[in-house]
Amino acid sequence: MALQLGDTAPNFTQDSTDGALNFYQWAGDSWVVLFSHPKDFTPVCTTELGYMAGLKPEFDKRNVKIIGLSVDPVEAHREWSKDIEETQGRAPNYPMIADHDRKVADLYGMIHPNALETMTVRSVFLIDPNKRVRLIPTYPASTGRNFDEILRAIDSIQLTETNKVATPVNWRPGQDVIILPSLSNDDAKALFPDGWDAQKPYLRVVKQPGG
Ligand code: BEZ
Repeated sequence: MALQLGDTAPNFTQDSTDGALNFYQWAGDSWVVLFSHPKDFTPVCTTELGYMAGLKPEFDKRNVKIIGLSVDPVEAHREWSKDIEETQGRAPNYPMIADHDRKVADLYGMIHPNALETMTVRSVFLIDPNKRVRLIPTYPASTGRNFDEILRAIDSIQLTETNKVATPVNWRPGQDVIILPSLSNDDAKALFPDGWDAQKPYLRVVKQPGG
């Protein structure tokens, strides 16, 4: 059965550009973004990998480690890295899993045979420090991902970890949020002493905590 939100992310040991990598040991107490690519030396992937290298400091700020994957060997990843640096201005500064036997791709359901027979689709798994899967966007091979949106979703998910709020459509950090429907007005008063805008009894808009 396909991995779903809330499931435990499976552990694995696989070759990578950083050597043999045990996923749980590598992840430690960090959040992780694990993202797959159809194949090395392909154009859309080349742009994505370069962009992720530039975005790494933003992931670092959020205690998120990033790791790529494709079903090619380490030598191909290393060779491809040079092209990525040449064309995108940055080589990957994070490990790339060399999933030559598709061990990880099969574990995580990254191969969708009705879309692409042998290559992985563009999967993204956000995994929290307890190794629970928290976000699973999936894109076809021809559509480059919007990794800024992944960062935005991480900001929302991390905010709701520690505060009893949800985030509305197209929310950006610093904008107003919504008090969780499960929180009674009495309990909300203790958490949000400055009050909220009750647009409906179930739609209570409040300033972002800490925002
Ligand atoms: C790409 O990364 O450009 C790509 C890979 C497989 C199919 C289509 C595009």
